Amino acid sequence: MRLRIAVLTGAGISAESGIPTFRGAGGLWERYKLEELASPEAFRRDPKLVWEWYDYRRLKIKEAEPNRGHRLLASMEEEFPNFTLITQNVDGLHQRAGSKRVIELHGNIWKLRCTRCTYEDFNYEAPLKVLPPACPSCGGLLRPGVVWFGESLPIDALEEAYRAAKASDVFLVVGTSGMVYPAAQLPIEAKERGAYLIEVNPEETPLSPYMDTCIREKASVGVEKALELIRSHLQRA
Ligand SMILES: NC(=O)c1ccc[n+]([C@@H]2O[C@H](COP(=O)([O-])OP(=O)(O)OC[C@H]3O[C@@H](n4cnc5c(N)ncnc54)[C@H](O)[C@@H]3O)[C@@H](O)[C@H]2O)c1
Ligand SMILES: [Zn+2]
Repeated sequence: MRLRIAVLTGAGISAESGIPTFRGAGGLWERYKLEELASPEAFRRDPKLVWEWYDYRRLKIKEAEPNRGHRLLASMEEEFPNFTLITQNVDGLHQRAGSKRVIELHGNIWKLRCTRCTYEDFNYEAPLKVLPPACPSCGGLLRPGVVWFGESLPIDALEEAYRAAKASDVFLVVGTSGMVYPAAQLPIEAKERGAYLIEVNPEETPLSPYMDTCIREKASVGVEKALELIRSHLQRA
C-alpha cells in the first residue's frame, strides 16, 4: 500500500536550530506583543520598528542551520512517494535541509514585496543596508513576504494543504501550538477523513485530544520515533 503522508510543522521544528518559537519566546523583543509587530496596523504605524524585528529574525535564521528534525522530514520525502510537507514557518530551513516541495502557509521571511507595485523577490541579505527597504522598481515601501495577523493565507497554498490533509492516511503534526487557524484545522480535517494522527511536541496542545499517538519529545527525537511508528505499524496496516 502506498501510504499517503502529510506533515504540518510549526515554529517548534526550528527551536533546536536556535530559532525562538513565539509562545515562550525570549530575548530582545519580549516586551512587544506579537500583534504590535506582526500586523498590517503595526507596519503602517511604524514600518522601521517592524523591519528591525524582521531584520533581527532574518539574521538569526541566516546564522542557524537546519536540525535533525528538518533533515528527517527531507528524507521522508525521498522514502514515501506520496508525501506532502506543509509548514507555518517562514524561515526556509526545510528547503535548506533538502526538502524539495514545501507548502508555505505563512509565506517566507526572505521574500520582499512592494506595498505599492507588483514587485516581489527573494533577498537573502541580512542585515539589510537600509531599514525600511525601498522597492528597486518604484521606490515604494517593501514589506516582508509573510502573512500577518488579520491577513488571509495564500489561497493556492491553503487549497493544496487541504487537499493533502483530506487525502492523507497519516497526518503528522510537529512543533505547533495548534492555536493559529486555519493551519490548526488541517489535522482535524484529516482525522474526519479517517487519517491516523501523530503529534510530536514536548508539550500538550489544543490538538492533542484529536491525536492517535502523542510523542512527547523534541522534534529531533520525536520525528524519528514517528517515522519508526509509520514504518513498523502503519505501513503494514
Ligand atoms: N521559525 C519560524 O519560521 C517561526 C518562528 C516563530 C514563529 N513562527 C510563526 O508564528 C506562528 C506561531 O505558531 P506555531 O504553532 O508555529 O508556533 P508557536 O510558537 O505558537 O508554538 C511552538 C510549539 O512548538 C513546541 N516546541 C517547542 N520546542 C520544540 C521542539 N524542540 N520540538 C518540537 N516542538 C517544540 C511548543 O511546545 C509549542 O507548542 C506560526 O505561523 C509560526 O510558523 C515561525
Ligand atoms: Zn514597487
